[in-house]
Amino acid sequence: MRTGKGRKFVIDEEKLAKTEARRKEGAGLFGGDIDRVPHPRRGLRPYIELEDVPEVVRTCEDPELLEEQQAFLAHRPLEVEVGFGGGASIFNRAKSRPDTHFVGFEIRRHLCLSLVKRIARDNVPNLRVCYEDVRQSMPPMIADQSLRRCSVFFPDPWWKRRHIKRRLLTTSFLDLMEQKLLPDGVLHIKTDVEEYSHVIEELLESDGRYIKADASFDHLFADDHPTEREAFCLQEGIPFWQFRYVLKP
Ligand SMILES: C[S@@+](CC[C@H](N)C(=O)[O-])C[C@H]1O[C@@H](n2cnc3c(N)ncnc32)[C@H](O)[C@@H]1O
Repeated sequence: MRTGKGRKFVIDEEKLAKTEARRKEGAGLFGGDIDRVPHPRRGLRPYIELEDVPEVVRTCEDPELLEEQQAFLAHRPLEVEVGFGGGASIFNRAKSRPDTHFVGFEIRRHLCLSLVKRIARDNVPNLRVCYEDVRQSMPPMIADQSLRRCSVFFPDPWWKRRHIKRRLLTTSFLDLMEQKLLPDGVLHIKTDVEEYSHVIEELLESDGRYIKADASFDHLFADDHPTEREAFCLQEGIPFWQFRYVLKP
């Protein structure tokens, strides 16, 4: 069916009837909310307010919630992953390091929702999700000089010239890291975009506040689990680059 100038708006009765039948079976959006699309077998998904679940940390003014959150965030060691996507890396790392607290930042709601469900299902009390832009929520939420490690795995490259301003890895992100990392805290970055890898290397090398992590930091990466993108690269033989930099004392 095509619409527009000079085109006929065609109504296909047969297709319309099929759509209507499917809708009666529960297909389609409920109240325009993507999270309420019924699953073919399990039916309508319960709507979860991400603000109300204990697996989520958020910027807010509720003193009771803030106190509880701050207790979680005051734990040391503390690590964060920015843009966790499917969450495979942070979820498995949190499971294998119960002594460490983790916060994953992600701006896509369905990805947060899916990680929240996995945390609740597998009972991983040392991992929480933040459904906010890290650049806005990290400054008020994470205490200065508190992070042992910040991971940014396969950040969006934003290829187009007019989108460059959206790239995460910039001097202002390094400023934020300088504030939040411990004096020997580690910034760990991976990308499969060669051009972006050059930009990142140049940024870190010219900045002067960070040095390459030597072998004494290897224990930190010992039980790392690949992200979804990394697993795809490994499977398809796509090269990727990684940067492990330490904030200079
Ligand atoms: C290319 S995906 C990589 C996902 C995952 N790290 C992986 O390796 O499979 C980048 C992710 O970063 C998230 N993201 C982008 N900018 C962000 C920001 N400012 N704060 C939090 N998450 C962000 C995106 O929503 C997206 O899920």
